[in-house]
Amino acid sequence: MKQKVGVLASGRGSNFEALLHHERTGFFQNIEIACLIVDQPQAGALEIAQRYGVPAYTLLRKDFSSKEAFEQAIAHTLDLHGVSWVVLAGYMRLVGPTLLDKYPQRILNIHPALLPSFPGLHAQRQALEYGVKVSGCTVHFVDSGMDTGPIIVQRCVPVLPNDTEETLSARILEQEHQAYAHALKAVTERPWRIEGRVVRFLDETKE
Ligand code: GAR
Repeated sequence: MKQKVGVLASGRGSNFEALLHHERTGFFQNIEIACLIVDQPQAGALEIAQRYGVPAYTLLRKDFSSKEAFEQAIAHTLDLHGVSWVVLAGYMRLVGPTLLDKYPQRILNIHPALLPSFPGLHAQRQALEYGVKVSGCTVHFVDSGMDTGPIIVQRCVPVLPNDTEETLSARILEQEHQAYAHALKAVTERPWRIEGRVVRFLDETKE
């Protein structure tokens, strides 16, 4: 039986849709996307879930007395679907101990920069303002820090002289949609372990 993936999102949902597209075209051997949870009532990801027939839930932080209670509600919803992998797809909150302890090394995030450069909000704007000549995206395991966990996949793109935040973001997003699917496939189909903070794929020879 395939392992179940739960997706958490806050906005547009293009990464969620890219993962669904990969799933529906047979890209993943071992997983299926079981549910979506959003923390914003207007999240575009909700419409995508409806289009693909994926069960979707809206849980608002303000409806809970603490972050712990909010995350317990998320965990309960994920349990309803037997979820064992959690994918953050534009989920704009720090994950707390309730979820981290329940899914150790089973929560993935995507960030629109080459970490450890430019963590946090507006990563593409940060990269432009810093003047870097390449940027990209990073898929990583989630730990208690902000965009700090062990790196699974990175892809880079050039930063061009006339780039705006919009043009750079679009170039990176195209890579995000590929990188996320490949990272999720890798950690669910290949043997790996984390050494220090290095994600080592055991079917790859050490240099
Ligand atoms: C993506 O660019 C993702 O990398 C970023 O939010 C966007 C969500 O787009 N995530 C973060 O910045 C998290 N730190 P999407 O809703 O279309 O997938």
